[in-house]
Amino acid sequence: MASNTERNVVVELRDLKKYFPVKSQTLIGGMGDTVKANDGVSFKIYEGETFGLVGESGCGKTTLGRTIIRLEKPTGGQILFDGHDITRMSNRNLRPLRTDMQIIFQDPYGSLDPKQTVGQIIGEGLLAHKMFKKGPELEEYILDIMDKCGLDDYMIHRYPHQFSGGQRQRIGIARSLALDPKFVVCDEAVSALDVSIQSQILNLLKRLKDEENLTYLFISHDLSVVKHISDRIGVMYLGEMVELGGAEALYNDPLHPYTKALLSAVPTTDVQRKGEKIILKGDIPSNVHPPSGCRFHTRCPLATEKCRQEVPIWEEAKPGRFVACHHYEQTKEMG
Ligand SMILES: Nc1ncnc2c1ncn2[C@@H]1O[C@H](COP(=O)(O)OP(=O)(O)OP(=O)(O)O)[C@@H](O)[C@H]1O
Ligand SMILES: [Mg+2]
Repeated sequence: MASNTERNVVVELRDLKKYFPVKSQTLIGGMGDTVKANDGVSFKIYEGETFGLVGESGCGKTTLGRTIIRLEKPTGGQILFDGHDITRMSNRNLRPLRTDMQIIFQDPYGSLDPKQTVGQIIGEGLLAHKMFKKGPELEEYILDIMDKCGLDDYMIHRYPHQFSGGQRQRIGIARSLALDPKFVVCDEAVSALDVSIQSQILNLLKRLKDEENLTYLFISHDLSVVKHISDRIGVMYLGEMVELGGAEALYNDPLHPYTKALLSAVPTTDVQRKGEKIILKGDIPSNVHPPSGCRFHTRCPLATEKCRQEVPIWEEAKPGRFVACHHYEQTKEMG
């Protein structure tokens, strides 16, 4: 594989921020407060890679995926997509880029219109973007996409409720792929499926990526799934990126204590990675008023006074391995 400096960048995020206003006076926030769903995220996604994104519920994964493809307006920072600065681009200017950026959801059923046939669902975007007119050519194209996604021809006139969860996810994938995108956000795309079906859908996504030259942002709270499919993995905590690296390297030698704790909770048969499960103390803090210094310090077994006071910088600790931690050199000894 070419080194990162030679590879095309599909997505580049620079200090990306997405805040949501806290609507009413509640226990966690007053008027004018904001939920810091993404708070200064910077990384690149290279053409042809699967970039895995992990972190606990509420850390900001879905928000990041939606903001990258401009389903949300960023609060600050910059998003470059395929060479275009789309940070503040109008919907009108975004329109021609829309087909290039697609999203696959956890619950395809919720996003598949029950009143439309599979053919109508897959064809809808093609008609809306004027890529086809109604007719035999469109039908032929839809059947071809269905075939690539493992759906039989007869299904074209059926409705989503007539299918199993795995098949519905194939319909959702076919709908996204029909538009011939460059970049696909897979948001918990297999999380609702049985384990045996999960691996079928993961294999389908892998095959399609190669055949259709796709680039994925693969979001999941399930580290074993992410490891299975990702080339590189980013770990998020409370709206921030805490670690990023190659999937193998990150898995075998986590640099951030949070990554290590997450990995220790994954059941494994891996002899290299045996060890105690690291139980993190305390709850996930508020993303309205995040902790001072390192946001992870309230739960970190390695935390010191410095962690309470100083925000750790995002640095390249080893080639291709990024981390934001004052004490990453001690993570090995942890647990
Ligand atoms: N539209 C919104 N308005 C207000 N707050 C929001 C909105 N969308 C997300 N949030 C908040 O932003 C934070 C991040 O949410 P997000 O859904 O991105 O997390 P996640 O990592 O995808 O979680 P999960 O693993 O449960 O899917 C949460 O505190 C959430 O409540
Ligand atoms: Mg989510």
